[in-house]
Amino acid sequence: MNQPSITPYDLPSRAFHWLTAIVVTIAFILGPEHFGQMMHRGIDPASQSDIVWHESLGLLVLLLTLLRLLWVALRPAAPQIPMSISMHRMALLMRVALWTLLLALPITALLALGRDAHPLTLLGGVRINEMPMIANLAIAKLVDWGDVHKFLGDAIMVLAGLHAAAALFHHLVLKDGVLSTMLPGKKFR
Ligand code: HEM
Repeated sequence: MNQPSITPYDLPSRAFHWLTAIVVTIAFILGPEHFGQMMHRGIDPASQSDIVWHESLGLLVLLLTLLRLLWVALRPAAPQIPMSISMHRMALLMRVALWTLLLALPITALLALGRDAHPLTLLGGVRINEMPMIANLAIAKLVDWGDVHKFLGDAIMVLAGLHAAAALFHHLVLKDGVLSTMLPGKKFR
């Protein structure tokens, strides 16, 4: 397929993108379904490998997102892709929504655990039984953050699906080279 060649994203930006996509997908698959019931029955979350992996990968998403934000501020300019104004606006809206969810997901999880005094259990036996700094925040009592977290977890997968569908539309229908700017194996010029 003969697509216009646009300078691709720099290598760290592409690495952050695909690593985040993989880690978020695995964290979503491992999302603990009956967490509240388990806590109620006195089951130790550290004994449940899906919970331990979910929480560890979820915090990795937070770390990756903060590092990526830093990189966005320092990196070379992102590729300029010629598009209609409405398409530009939609792409910007989607980007803002995805960035917001990447930050909101780990934050709502920490608010949920802190509010209900449930332990944070991570790989390597790391365990924080209570987070009083979070529990004492006025915002912690506002809503059931576990429910908000679950809703946002579903929302990020729906948006990521739409985002992927849009990339395929650019590649297969508009043939404007957008997808290739984020693919691995492209040389950064
Ligand atoms: C991008 C990262 C994350 C995604 C996509 C995600 C996604 C999800 C989803 C979809 C569920 C609901 C599972 C279900 O009902 O079947 C869930 C539940 C949960 N997640 Fe996450 N999560 C992320 C990060 C985190 C982090 C960082 C933590 C811990 C610090 C965490 C702790 C929990 C807990 C404790 C529940 C159970 C909530 C409840 O039932 O009240 N998650 N997550």
